[in-house]
Amino acid sequence: MNILGIESSCDETSSAILSDNKILSNLISSQDFHADYGGVVPELSSRAHMQIIKPLVDKSLKESNLKLGDIDLITATAGPGLIGALLVGLTYAKGLAFSLNKPFISVNHIEGHIYSGFLMEEKPEFPILTLVVSGGHTLLLYVKSFKEIQQLGTTVDDAAGEAFDKVSKMLSFGYPGGPKIQNASKIGDEDKIKFPVAELKNPYNFSFSGLKTSVLRYVQKNFSNVNDIPEKEKNNIAASFQKAVVNALMQNTERALNNYDVKSISLVGGVAANEKLRNEITLLSKRYDKKIIIPSLEFCGDNAAMIAFRGKSLFEAGRQDSLNAKPYPSLGENYFHSG
Ligand code: KG4
Ligand code: ZN
Repeated sequence: MNILGIESSCDETSSAILSDNKILSNLISSQDFHADYGGVVPELSSRAHMQIIKPLVDKSLKESNLKLGDIDLITATAGPGLIGALLVGLTYAKGLAFSLNKPFISVNHIEGHIYSGFLMEEKPEFPILTLVVSGGHTLLLYVKSFKEIQQLGTTVDDAAGEAFDKVSKMLSFGYPGGPKIQNASKIGDEDKIKFPVAELKNPYNFSFSGLKTSVLRYVQKNFSNVNDIPEKEKNNIAASFQKAVVNALMQNTERALNNYDVKSISLVGGVAANEKLRNEITLLSKRYDKKIIIPSLEFCGDNAAMIAFRGKSLFEAGRQDSLNAKPYPSLGENYFHSG
């Protein structure tokens, strides 16, 4: 069975082709031009998806040595994400399914990220404690099976990736902030400044807005403007901030480990590319004697392979979607499909 996956929820267009469980192609086209604006401009994102989607799918087919007629199932992200961006990939996928008369499955982006843990050779074992950390979401999930996903915690304000992006902008490092903060942190002193970790009523919830404000206050108090911050000091701020984010994520993950009996832990989403976070969660898993699954970098950020795999598992569980499937901007009621 050949499966086409399409992902266009934010600033990456991605097209993947699976042949059963083998990834034949997983192409990711990143919209780098958003860096000029300091963040993703939704309308520009939709337009760029429109321009690249067909050539990208064509390239995926070529790379896989397949023709459109060889595709048996078409899957695409329906949400959550930017509505205009989602509309492009979803409509293109539905159009293909209609013209080829092939089944279509719409995939929840977060479920796709959770599924990325299953793309590695070493598979997670249920129940899984999954930490989803991306530009739009920060979720701590108790995944008993794909039919039973319990949300333990979420962010009450900014997502972890969003905090990286905002602090990076504050320090004039640019967008996307995660990799830039990570690089600066490598040469900075993470113990130089003590930034706070929020304590919330729900012990599994996250808040990064106060941390972001603390960084801003620190900068305002100590420097007249961002251009006056010596490079060394910027690196110290970045490293201290990164440490605070990772501590917050690890604190709640450890709390969940103390209260939920899980067989494995998985770390997924764009921020899962962060080396410090990868190291700390691996250490935590060792302390608790749990299996740890972290996707390789290719599958941490947005990619269509995870969407195609999730779509395939839903199809195998008997689902098939109508071509009326609509995009949705937030998790809302679409919080998790069965299968
Ligand atoms: O999952 P993703 O590709 O898109 C969303 O679904 O949001 O995540 C993108 C986020 C961005 O905020 C980016 O700054 C962050 O992932 N990110 C990182 C790293 N690489 C990407 N954050 C921290 N450290 C990194 N190395
Ligand atoms: Zn994502």
